[in-house]
Amino acid sequence: MRETSAIYPGSFDPITNGHVDIIERGLKVFDRVVVAVLKNPKKHPLFTTKERVKMIQEIFASRKEVEVLAFDGLLVDFARAQGTTVVIRGLRAISDFEYEFQMALMNRSLAPDIETFFMMPSVHYSFLSSNVVREVAGLGGSVEGLVPGPIARKLRNKIDRSKKVQIP
Ligand code: PNS
Repeated sequence: MRETSAIYPGSFDPITNGHVDIIERGLKVFDRVVVAVLKNPKKHPLFTTKERVKMIQEIFASRKEVEVLAFDGLLVDFARAQGTTVVIRGLRAISDFEYEFQMALMNRSLAPDIETFFMMPSVHYSFLSSNVVREVAGLGGSVEGLVPGPIARKLRNKIDRSKKVQIP
């Protein structure tokens, strides 16, 4: 039987438990999930592309069905290069819908053979985003339960280091 696969793109700066939840749900439907980490230097991510890829690889080290790769350019081109025609996106709330709708239809207009699958994370993560996690961690709040344990530690170290650089 043919292997089914899907691509799960995002910035993952950093990966949250909401992302992990979506990847696990995706694995219930597809044999292989390619986590595609956007190289977005213009957005000035907190973690480098290499760091974001490595963090996700570490979390899913025991799951050979999860592949983590960096990409730039059009998502649909990268999906095709990976031999997949399915894009997974998480939908947390109605507020996500407009942006996701626009992106899904743009992708469909660029590549009619590629379908976007929306998956809802657990309600526990419906308020969660990488932005919120970075902000809370940056202000000294706890992100326990919001990101995988190793990511919380890396976030703390990264923020401590960036504070040292800023304070003369
Ligand atoms: O987690 P994010 O930051 O909301 O992910 C956004 C992402 C990476 C899915 C989106 O920016 C993207 O697909 N970028 C690649 C460029 C592209 O294909 N643009 C056309 C679709 S609008």
